[in-house]
Amino acid sequence: MKYYMPVRVFDEKDCVSYHAKDISALGKRALIVTGKKSAAINGSLKDVTDALRQNGTDYWIFSEVEENPSVETVFAARDRFISENIDFVIGIGGGSPMDAAKAIALVLKHPEADLEYLYDKSADPSALPVVCVPTTCGTGSEVTGVSVLTRHDKKTKISMVHRVYPALALIDGKYLKSAPHTLIVNSAVDALSHLYESVLNAKSDDYVRMTAEAGLKLWAECKDVLTGEKQADEQDYEKLMRASAFAGMSIAGSGTSLPHALSYILTYDLLLEHGKAVGYFLPGFMAEAPAIERDELLSLSGFDSIDDFISFINRVLGKQDIAQSELEKTCIAVASNQAKMKSASFEVDEKMLERIVYFRQKNGMP
Ligand SMILES: [Fe+2]
Repeated sequence: MKYYMPVRVFDEKDCVSYHAKDISALGKRALIVTGKKSAAINGSLKDVTDALRQNGTDYWIFSEVEENPSVETVFAARDRFISENIDFVIGIGGGSPMDAAKAIALVLKHPEADLEYLYDKSADPSALPVVCVPTTCGTGSEVTGVSVLTRHDKKTKISMVHRVYPALALIDGKYLKSAPHTLIVNSAVDALSHLYESVLNAKSDDYVRMTAEAGLKLWAECKDVLTGEKQADEQDYEKLMRASAFAGMSIAGSGTSLPHALSYILTYDLLLEHGKAVGYFLPGFMAEAPAIERDELLSLSGFDSIDDFISFINRVLGKQDIAQSELEKTCIAVASNQAKMKSASFEVDEKMLERIVYFRQKNGMP
C-alpha cells in the first residue's frame, strides 16, 4: 500500500487572506485560471488578487475556461502567457478551472510540449507550482494530481497521464454561499460518487477507506441541505467542501470506477453536467455492488437502504431523459475498455454493465 497526498491543505474561513504569504512564496508572477463568471461572483477572485497585491506579486488572469475544458483551451492559455515568464498558476473554481490550471502549469513549464506530451508517460511530468481554490463541493481536484480534459477529436473526456498535485489547496466554505442550489447538488452527488467509487474499487485499500469514511460521515450531515429540507448554514458549506476534499483524497488513492467511466460520453454528447451524468449511473452501480460493503457505505452516508438511496437520487437530480442510442453507445465504449471494466472491486461482465447502464430504465425511474 502507499499513501501519497503531497498537497498542503488549509481549510478554514478566509484562508486565502490568511495564507497570502504562502501563495506569494511560490513566485513573483502568477497566472490566475478561472471560469467565465463565478470566481468574480463568489468573491474568490477578489480574495486571491487582494492577497497577491498585498505581497507585490504580479498576476495575469485567464478567465476563459469552459465547462469540461478542452486541450485546445490549455494550449491557448500557454500560447498567450508563455512570454510572461509565469512562476506559478492559481486555479479558482470547480473542477474545470482547477484541472485546466494543472495542465496549463505543465505546458508552461515545457514550451515545446504538444498534444501528445499530455499522454506520453515517458515525458517529464514536472510542472509550475499550482495553487487551487475550490468554489464548488464536488471535484476534489484541489487535492489530486488529476486533470481531466475534453478531447474533441475523440468526442470524450480523458485524463492526462501526468499527475500535477497542487502545492497548496485553500479551502473555504464561504465560496459556496452564492452558488445555485442545483450546482451544489450536482457537485455533492459527484463527491458522493467519488467516495463510493473509491472504496468499491479494485485499487482500494485501508488508506482510501480512511479518507472515504471521513468524507461519507461529513457528507451525511449535509443530506438535508441537498434535499432542500434545511437551509444551509456556514457549517454546512464547510462540511460539503471538506467532504469533497476527502473524496478527492480517496480517488487520488484509487481512481474512480464505472459511474465516472460511463459518464464521460454522456457529458460530451449531451452537455450533461458532470454530477448529473455520474449520478445517472450511480444507482445501478450500487445495486450491483456486494451487499455487505454497499450497505456499509450507504449507512455511513446516511441512507437506510439501497431504496432510500435511489429515492434520494431521484429526488435531488430529477428527471433525466437519455436516449436509448446514447446509452447503447456508452455501454459499448466502456465494455471495450478493459481497464475500466476491471476498475471495480467486484467482477463486472458485459451483462452486469448493461444492468448498470439500463438500471434506471428497467426500474421505471424518471
Ligand atoms: Fe467526478
